[in-house]
Amino acid sequence: MISRYNPVTKKIRHYSANACLTPICSLYGAAVTTVEGIGSTKTRIHPVQERIAKCHGTQCGFCTPGMVMSIYALLRNHPEPTLTQLTDALDGNLCRCTGYRPIIDACKTFSTTSGCCQNKVNGVCCLDQGMNGLPEFEEGNKISPKLFLEEEFLPLDPSQELIFPPELMIMAEKQPPRTRVFGGERLTWISPVTLKELLEAKIQYPQAPVVMGNTSVGPEVKFKGIFHPVIISPDRIEELNIVDCVQSGLTLGAGLSLAQVKDILADVVLKLPEEKTQTYCALLKHLGTLAGAQIRNMASLGGHIMSRHLDSDLNPLLAVGNCTLNVLSKEGERQVPLNEQFLRKCPSADLKPEEILLSVNIPYSRKWEFVSAFRQAQRQQNALAIVNSGMRVFFGDGEGIIKELSISYGGVGPTTICAKNSCQKLIGRSWNEKMLDEACRLLLDEVSLPGSAPGGKVEFRRTLIISFLFKFYLEVSQTLKRMDPAYSPSPADTYASALEDLHSRHRGRLFMYQKIDTKQLPQDPIGHPVMHLSGIKHATGEAIYCDDMPAMDQELFLTLVTSSRAHAKIVSIDVSEALSLPGVVDIIAEEQLQGINCFNSLSQPEKLLETDEVSCVGQLVCAVIAESEVQAKRAAERVKIVYQDLEPLILTIEDAIQHNSFFEGEKKLECGNVEEAFKVVDHTLEGEIHMGGQEHFYMETQSMLVVPKGEDQEIDIYVSTQFPKFIQMGQVSENCYHSQDVVASTLKIPVNKVMCHVKRVGGAFGGKVVKTGILAAITAFAANKHGRAVRCVLERGEDMLITGGRHPFLGKYKIGFMSDGRILALDMEHYDNGGCAPELSLFVIEFGLLKLDNAYKFPNLRCRGRACRTNLPSNTALRGFGFPQSGFITESCIMEVAAKCGLSPEEVRMINMYKEIDQTPYKQEINAKNLIQCWKECMTMSSYSLRKAAVEKFNSENYWKKKGLAMVPLKFPIGVESLSAGQASALVHIYLDGSVLVTHGGIEMGQGVHTKMIQVVSRELKMPMSNVHLRGTSTETIPNANASGGSVVADLNGLAVQDACQTLLKRLEPIISKNPQGTWKDWAEAAFNESISLTATGYFRGYESNMNWETSEGHPFEYFVYGAACSEVEIDCLTGDHKNIRTDIVMDVGYSINPALDIGQIEGAFIQGMGLYTMEELNYSPQGVLYTRGPNQYKIPAICDIPTELHISLLPPSENSNTLYSSKGLGESGVFLGCSVFFAIHDAVNAARRERGLTGPLKLNSPLTPEKIRMACEDKFTKMVCSVHKTLNSCPLFLC
Ligand SMILES: Cc1cc2nc3c(=O)[nH]c(=O)nc-3n(C[C@H](O)[C@H](O)[C@H](O)COP(=O)(O)OP(=O)(O)OC[C@H]3O[C@@H](n4cnc5c(N)ncnc54)[C@H](O)[C@@H]3O)c2cc1C
Ligand code: FES
Repeated sequence: MISRYNPVTKKIRHYSANACLTPICSLYGAAVTTVEGIGSTKTRIHPVQERIAKCHGTQCGFCTPGMVMSIYALLRNHPEPTLTQLTDALDGNLCRCTGYRPIIDACKTFSTTSGCCQNKVNGVCCLDQGMNGLPEFEEGNKISPKLFLEEEFLPLDPSQELIFPPELMIMAEKQPPRTRVFGGERLTWISPVTLKELLEAKIQYPQAPVVMGNTSVGPEVKFKGIFHPVIISPDRIEELNIVDCVQSGLTLGAGLSLAQVKDILADVVLKLPEEKTQTYCALLKHLGTLAGAQIRNMASLGGHIMSRHLDSDLNPLLAVGNCTLNVLSKEGERQVPLNEQFLRKCPSADLKPEEILLSVNIPYSRKWEFVSAFRQAQRQQNALAIVNSGMRVFFGDGEGIIKELSISYGGVGPTTICAKNSCQKLIGRSWNEKMLDEACRLLLDEVSLPGSAPGGKVEFRRTLIISFLFKFYLEVSQTLKRMDPAYSPSPADTYASALEDLHSRHRGRLFMYQKIDTKQLPQDPIGHPVMHLSGIKHATGEAIYCDDMPAMDQELFLTLVTSSRAHAKIVSIDVSEALSLPGVVDIIAEEQLQGINCFNSLSQPEKLLETDEVSCVGQLVCAVIAESEVQAKRAAERVKIVYQDLEPLILTIEDAIQHNSFFEGEKKLECGNVEEAFKVVDHTLEGEIHMGGQEHFYMETQSMLVVPKGEDQEIDIYVSTQFPKFIQMGQVSENCYHSQDVVASTLKIPVNKVMCHVKRVGGAFGGKVVKTGILAAITAFAANKHGRAVRCVLERGEDMLITGGRHPFLGKYKIGFMSDGRILALDMEHYDNGGCAPELSLFVIEFGLLKLDNAYKFPNLRCRGRACRTNLPSNTALRGFGFPQSGFITESCIMEVAAKCGLSPEEVRMINMYKEIDQTPYKQEINAKNLIQCWKECMTMSSYSLRKAAVEKFNSENYWKKKGLAMVPLKFPIGVESLSAGQASALVHIYLDGSVLVTHGGIEMGQGVHTKMIQVVSRELKMPMSNVHLRGTSTETIPNANASGGSVVADLNGLAVQDACQTLLKRLEPIISKNPQGTWKDWAEAAFNESISLTATGYFRGYESNMNWETSEGHPFEYFVYGAACSEVEIDCLTGDHKNIRTDIVMDVGYSINPALDIGQIEGAFIQGMGLYTMEELNYSPQGVLYTRGPNQYKIPAICDIPTELHISLLPPSENSNTLYSSKGLGESGVFLGCSVFFAIHDAVNAARRERGLTGPLKLNSPLTPEKIRMACEDKFTKMVCSVHKTLNSCPLFLC
């Protein structure tokens, strides 16, 4: 949080900001408060820190300090905020773990409003009415205890907050305002404090940018390598912050932040008559979604206008609103119209280099003048618009004849585009459908977007151009009608729905979970919603992640040079210039790794560094080691690589099939007799379904610090990994030069010299296994070679470029089924896009095959799977490991069957679901009782039938908005497919003061495994949790631990911890029984005196598991997690936007060891799955370069995306299994349930198509983005675009 004191207004402004975009020089005179400053465990924690932790709003904790500070900054300005203010304050924060709902819970405890819409129908609060006016499900006495107790929370007392430092206040008051100059080696920062000095600086350095918020200049410097030797940063110039309401309109200073502009406009809109504030309302609408709160706090109005970004949200509105710019130079002030010429930077209409923008005049609108704003982005908030628009019409009177018309678009050209000619031609026309039709054609003609336009999505963008116009047409027509009821023509009532924006509100969530057995001891924490062990430390910033470790003496930084070509021979690498740069210590390439450059990636050898032939963009070529990160990065840019492109270039699964490019091995699973079944079925259908990949987007990027100990070749690695053993040891390889391990073999030392330590990981989701090992090996080599500590921390863009993610899938299927919906035969081919190395691709195929049946009994099934070798970075494990893809393909087949049989998908699901005692395709027995129960409970809890009817009613009344409802079942098998991969160890020490230290092989990645392990020790040893400590995971204490993943970390390690505790108890039993009233201190001392060891190891062998792929028979899994989810959505058929209205989830988790953590896993996975199926889209250039390399381009769900209502119910425990306390692993299964949102959207799109007379089958691929939704809701606008497009080439979407 940045706080600034204004000596003129005597006010302090507190605001959250992005540290990475805040230049240190800009902070002169400001107070900066970080999360450590507001509270700590050593002094007193702040209520925000306490509540976010205790409401379970933190898992891996990496996002938590940011969340805390955003809430804190809001509370400093608004001690009693509304829930909307709170959630708006978080719209620039991302969390990959929690699914946001528990963070909102924490917010609600500060809010004065309940989340109620304040609209009492029949005197009943909306919260009691349920959705769509339908009753909530009967809670009765099923209601569970709360997951947290609000009564325990510290009160928020604004009088206790940190004060603004008085010395800064005095400095601001007393110091004469004088230009400050900061000079660095390369850069001079000039901070003028008067307009005169600013203009002088501008004359002296006309090319220097005037940096205000730095949100436009900063990213260019950081990501595009643009360097400015001089920066002018006007500081505290009052004239740049003016707010003036004059006769003709509002004048706003160019230095006002967008957040301030938003507040000012909101205020003005309340005070002025509606007809005067049309432009202001439109600006306010866009200011609500423009970027995130932090950027709006920093970015200035002037910086926004002057940047003239192609996707600027405000410039199209300012242009249509006839705004003018007041610019100033030594010559004096003049006005520049904010028009097309200015936006195009025509020299005659632009500012001169020595001029600055002083303020902006935004005129009032007039009677009979209407202004509107439109935008569509990949995500509702904090996402640059794909297309946005400002539209204004002036009639002069109520006759509806156009006197003035202005339409501008963003996102369709190199800058804001004004459709001047079209508007000109429409002057004098009546505001009616004929005019609309003509206008659409004119606009499509004028705002030309060639098929090859940068950014792609051309048909979608062209469709938005006219869809927005249609919305504007309806909006204005409706207002005209409101102003004059006699006005005609008036749009049909069912069209009114086109006008509302789909904004999510946050209302409620409801959880139901098991009640604690009354016989359970009060101090036994098993089954209780215990807070994450590190929750408070996450919230106070005390939790240490890899890159938080202080710099070691003489530490070096390593950065990687990666291939810029997808398939090429490296002709030469020239490192001479890079090596000559200051601070550069070494550049490591393949020749330095002679004999050790190879490791075995499960089955095939892979190189650490590649200098002969590269097979993907992002492949590691060499590593630059320098004294600092900046020096290393600068040098890496100077490494010159000459490539010779090779053929073929294989990027997609289709390319791979065409070139027969597969990794060795095909997997096949078969049961029954598919051919015979096809002969007897009523129908067969064939088709294909595509599913895109997914980026892990863990918040903590790949990070490591390698420290050579200087003695006996010992080396310590502090690393963010899920698999320390792999880093320490790697995989044994027959084929490689060296046949041992990654770090140890790279260093040619025994494994017992390499120790790997993991305190915690800031999210992993499968992405911190193999690639982390490779990076650690290279870093360790550098550290060992130079005898100095070396740190390697990837930036987000590097991380996304280098590491692969979830495998894209292609499913080719043939289904045979009866008219009543029974599926008798399924013949399937699965292909995954493995990227350039085999890594885990075949395992993903295997698991995909074993899980493809999901909840259904397919009596005759044949499925083959192959992993494709392509020129993309190697794809790897990601939460769900093949199941989210293969289950989705199966569910898509169900949709097809339902459509053909005229049944609802839910009916077809029910008909084909496993019966109670049944067999999987690989002949493992299952008891599907809980599956059926989950399904039935979900039906009841979601009021499925009533809501289905309500959705149909809504759809019949609304033409441009449609709702959809879908329910999917889940059977998620748990197991690791081999006994050895399931073994786990633990170590428990009891100290003489009675305290206990526990370690196990599991990695804490946010899932709360360490918390659960302490709960286990507490139960087993019957001691309070506070008596037990867990320091982290290390190969020093637990050797040879398996990778943490596959939902079984707590299962397996918990059994090992339990074993260790039971061994200790057995040993101590005689001592305890001699002194049953004694304390653990007494017993530990007595044991010590009797020479009884107080240390025990615990071990679990793993689950028995086998699978014979020859016979398609086996018992690969230990148990199944069952569940069901029902989701309801609303879509905007004109823009492709959607809103998640409600989701109900019922899960069978056995006996939950910790319902707060388990519900957190379900929610977090569900939201991650929702992102996978509806939003997260990876885009590549035709040359295989990943475009989506950061949060700007790749959108994961944000706080605006979660369902307005979320209900989660855990089935009461019913089975007694041999798992830990009959619990079930839950890490991954919820991801698949995200596809209920996909199918709900599918349902809504189907409704739209049916209404438009399109009855053919609807195939939608994943992710179902706004583009796909919009283009599938075919209408006259998509047809218009296609017909125009058709004249150029054939329609690539096959829509016409
Ligand atoms: C993460 C992120 C998300 C974003 N999302 C959106 C979005 O959703 N919609 C959207 O429209 N925009 C978005 N933006 C862009 C953002 O609106 C602009 O970056 C911002 O408004 C620029 O303002 P600034 O003060 O930071 O400019 P700066 O970076 O400080 O300056 C930008 C330019 O303006 C010039 N300049 C600034 N002030 C003056 C002056 N008084 N006189 C003359 N020249 C001046 C500078 O010389 C410089 O060239 C986003 C940006 C980021 C970083
Ligand atoms: S807890 Fe939010 S990213 Fe992990």
